[in-house]
Amino acid sequence: MQFDPRSPKFRANPYPIYRYLRTHQPIHYRAERRDWILTRYADITEVLKSLDFGRSELKQAPPATGANSGLIDRLLSIRHESDQLMKLWLVLTNPPDHTRIRRLLQKAFTPSRINALQASIQAKVDGYIDRTMERGKMDIIGDLAYPLMLELNCSEILGIPRQTWHRNFRQWTENMALLADMDITPIAYERGMMAFVGLAEFFRNRIAECRAGSAPMDNLIGMLIREGDRLSKEELLANCIMMFTVGHSSTVNLIGIAMLALLNHPEQLRLLIEDPDLIDLAVSEALRYDSPVQGVSRTALCDVELSDTRIHQGEKVICVLAAANRDPARFPEPDKFDIRRQPNPHLSFGYGIHTCIGRPLSLLAAKIAVGTLVRRLPGLALATDSLEWEDSFLGHGLKALPVVFQSPVTGSGH
Ligand code: HEM
Repeated sequence: MQFDPRSPKFRANPYPIYRYLRTHQPIHYRAERRDWILTRYADITEVLKSLDFGRSELKQAPPATGANSGLIDRLLSIRHESDQLMKLWLVLTNPPDHTRIRRLLQKAFTPSRINALQASIQAKVDGYIDRTMERGKMDIIGDLAYPLMLELNCSEILGIPRQTWHRNFRQWTENMALLADMDITPIAYERGMMAFVGLAEFFRNRIAECRAGSAPMDNLIGMLIREGDRLSKEELLANCIMMFTVGHSSTVNLIGIAMLALLNHPEQLRLLIEDPDLIDLAVSEALRYDSPVQGVSRTALCDVELSDTRIHQGEKVICVLAAANRDPARFPEPDKFDIRRQPNPHLSFGYGIHTCIGRPLSLLAAKIAVGTLVRRLPGLALATDSLEWEDSFLGHGLKALPVVFQSPVTGSGH
């Protein structure tokens, strides 16, 4: 049994390996990478709440291979610029900078701002479903989850109206996800860097337009600009890029994962159809059962003892949240998908000071999307038996989720 986050088989179903590691090597050292893989709930929460572990690591750039020297110089300068900006991402900072930046970003996610989006999310979801109704089939990722979350994140949170979207948004999102991955290959790294440069240019222009008064200010970018010097120019740019990157893909993946789990467990799908009030618990259970963010990393800021294992200063630990979510010491019958599970203290939004600030938005969007699909599409069923997963381990999601359903026009989509 090997922990190999690059293997497609592992990505499609990592749970047997997690079970093996949790049972036999819960604090597993990968000598070739000089990092630790943690799979027990108790160890992971211990690390994530400890000030002895923090964010001082940046992605190790793999060597560029097979390139001429002009290209290497260009890549090195891109790496330098991206590294300088990326280390200002909220999620990669430590207190006190983290505390200051988080307080500012959180203002865009107050309960009143998020609740105000409810009607608009419902209208968008209904619109995407209406467009596919007659066909009797749809790809839940491409026809609904992705356009919904891109629209929400860009238009509602960042205030980027559709007509000003860049044609590379989708490609940049995919390539930025590669950049955040573990054990990254040199090619994926370079693609991620190019996406970073594209996004930096886009947001530099966008911020300039906002400052010049030629773009709307009632959004996160406008709010951050109004904070004045509480945020440096570089912090502002870096965190706009971060919010674009983290703001939609995990929720797209959650909607896909939740629908797949329900379709694979017809008795649970029936329960939800009979009792729509179970939607909150059902989304929580989907998050626990197959987390869209499989893990998060930290670096030991000093030598630390963790469950009798010594972790040395500077060593990286990967907290596999998805493995903690199936820990039998915390969850009875952890491999069972049970939409009535309560309590459900899953770690899919993280734990400690970096807990996800987008949680209320993604929960609201996922509940409306999943609840509406289940309510409006009778006879929902998977339209394929070969699903493909995104080429990323930490960000876990389906490339597509084709389904069929009874169409009101033909009576059947099958
Ligand atoms: C199902 C959807 C989502 C999941 C599973 C998820 C998961 C996570 C996790 C695990 C972390 C902790 C990272 C760490 O400890 O290193 C995190 C942090 C974060 N998330 Fe999310 N997230 C989701 C949606 C969103 C959305 C929609 C947004 C914004 C619009 C967002 C913004 C953030 C930010 C800014 C942080 C950094 C918080 C900090 O460092 O203090 N997330 N998220």
